[in-house]
Amino acid sequence: MKDCNNGCLEECIGEAGSDAVMGTFKAKDLIITPATTLKEKPDPTTVVFGTVFTDHMLTIEWSLECGWEKPHIKPFQNLSLHPSSSALHYAVELFEGMKAFRGVDNKIRLFRPNLNMDRMHKSARRATLPGFDKEELIKCIQQLVKIDQEWVPYSTSASLYIRPTFIGTEPSLGVKKPTRAMIFVILSPVRSYFSAETLTPVSLWANPKFVRAWKGGTGDCKMGGNYGSSLLAQCEAMDNGCQQVLWLHGEDNQITEVGTMNLFLYWINEDGEEELATPPLDGIILPGVTRQSILDLALQWGEFKVSERYLTMGDLTTALEQNRVKEMFGSGTACVVCPVSDILYKGEYGREESDWTVIVS
Ligand SMILES: Cc1ncc(COP(=O)(O)O)c(C=O)c1O
Repeated sequence: MKDCNNGCLEECIGEAGSDAVMGTFKAKDLIITPATTLKEKPDPTTVVFGTVFTDHMLTIEWSLECGWEKPHIKPFQNLSLHPSSSALHYAVELFEGMKAFRGVDNKIRLFRPNLNMDRMHKSARRATLPGFDKEELIKCIQQLVKIDQEWVPYSTSASLYIRPTFIGTEPSLGVKKPTRAMIFVILSPVRSYFSAETLTPVSLWANPKFVRAWKGGTGDCKMGGNYGSSLLAQCEAMDNGCQQVLWLHGEDNQITEVGTMNLFLYWINEDGEEELATPPLDGIILPGVTRQSILDLALQWGEFKVSERYLTMGDLTTALEQNRVKEMFGSGTACVVCPVSDILYKGEYGREESDWTVIVS
């Protein structure tokens, strides 16, 4: 057995990128180092998203030689990384976004964390990062939230955002499957994007020149590289007076996602049926937890047709002309649901900027 920082749990575990969870870390082995000074908590109703962090964080290190080390809850602090770490050079990185809420009964609950863990495990496989035990990671996160429980806002319009992150820490420049990796989890109190009374709609910028995801790519995984490469499109959207990007795909300008949200169209479809539609999980759509929850609820209500189907800009423009669109909205952990007010769409390539048209209002 190798001598690792926190002591190896097993002599050997499965390879990076495999499903093996043999020799996984266990929440019962958590090493807890409490913070000696506690930070002042912000007003959760005014805090800017993702700018304030709690007193503690979770780290769990992995190496090919030693497998998973013991999980560690420690004071929130900077990471020390080898400058050649593969996360920094080749974006061997993935993350999750989930929330803990304080209920009116004062109990703290994580929202469907098993769905986040399933997605994280799938992203890890795609990133050639090692398999891990999803249940044990949830237990470690629960313990972290428990330690920082006073940071879970006493408010129904705010919550604690949880950011599990998984990085390759391979200390060499070869483009290869990492032999070292680390999971870390940080927590940040966040307010609701909207108050209960007002849902502020967003305007979208739809230009097919930028593509978020493609078949065989990584768009269905929550990998950091997907987001860094989306920023230029987001900047152009803002330069054009819009708030978010409507991501299109393919020759027929399929509607896929909105910014970092899944997309729903509630309309009267081509066959005259009332339908809630969202694009199918065909490899270019991130399988959102909120998306799944909306589909589950709508199916349970049974009030209208619920479909996972393709939608194109052509379908949408025709429906708008015929006054068949009732609502369009994005869904995601950060904002939950976000109505769409306008879309600035350039239907054809090669036209001048002045030919952009507002098609939803
Ligand atoms: C590209 C993308 N689509 C959709 C979503 C919504 O996913 P979820 O509902 O799990 O937050 C996210 C959220 O992070 C996202 O980044």
